[in-house]
Amino acid sequence: MTRPLILVTLLGLGLAGCGQSGSSEAAPAAPARPEATAAEKAILLAALPSPYNTADLDNGRRAFARCRSCHTIAEGGPNMTGPNLWGIFGRTAGSHADYNYTTALKTAGFTWDADRLDHWLQNPRSFLPGNKMTFPGLADATDRRDVIAWLKVETGYVPAAPATPVP
Ligand code: HEC
Repeated sequence: MTRPLILVTLLGLGLAGCGQSGSSEAAPAAPARPEATAAEKAILLAALPSPYNTADLDNGRRAFARCRSCHTIAEGGPNMTGPNLWGIFGRTAGSHADYNYTTALKTAGFTWDADRLDHWLQNPRSFLPGNKMTFPGLADATDRRDVIAWLKVETGYVPAAPATPVP
């Protein structure tokens, strides 16, 4: 009857020998991406395709006040009534992990870009019938331009590399 106990004890001893961890290699956890400076944001803005390169980021931030009750934008931010929007540009519609989308959005089958977002924000209901974003839309085209540019700057969008690198 004592044999299993001995086995367990031996196993335990064996495992204990592996417990030594090289604490010297423990690098400090990489901080979340530092907030871009105003100058960096201006460079990102200027690199956007027209008409977004002439957008007013302050107005975009103000327009996003209408989205904040339902959406966070920070990297790793929580889903609320709507999904977190970090990395939204280039993301497949309805694909944020752990968010319970409607079938309409899950099966939309496109990738978010400025043009899709412009149509979505103009009238979410008619752009994709059956979705559950109960938002009447941003009627003003300038507000849409500005909020899209602001989202590009704030949600980690990386512009495609230029075709011919500058020497
Ligand atoms: C009342 C809450 C609410 C407001 C306000 C709101 N949204 Fe949403 N949003 C949602 C919900 C809910 C969904 C998910 C819809 C679904 O699954 O059908 C969503 C989905 C989205 C998506 C698609 C995300 C994905 O992962 O495919 C985008 C983009 C978006 N919203 C942007 C915005 C922007 C920008 C604004 C402000 C101009 C805004 N939303 C305002 C609730 C809201």
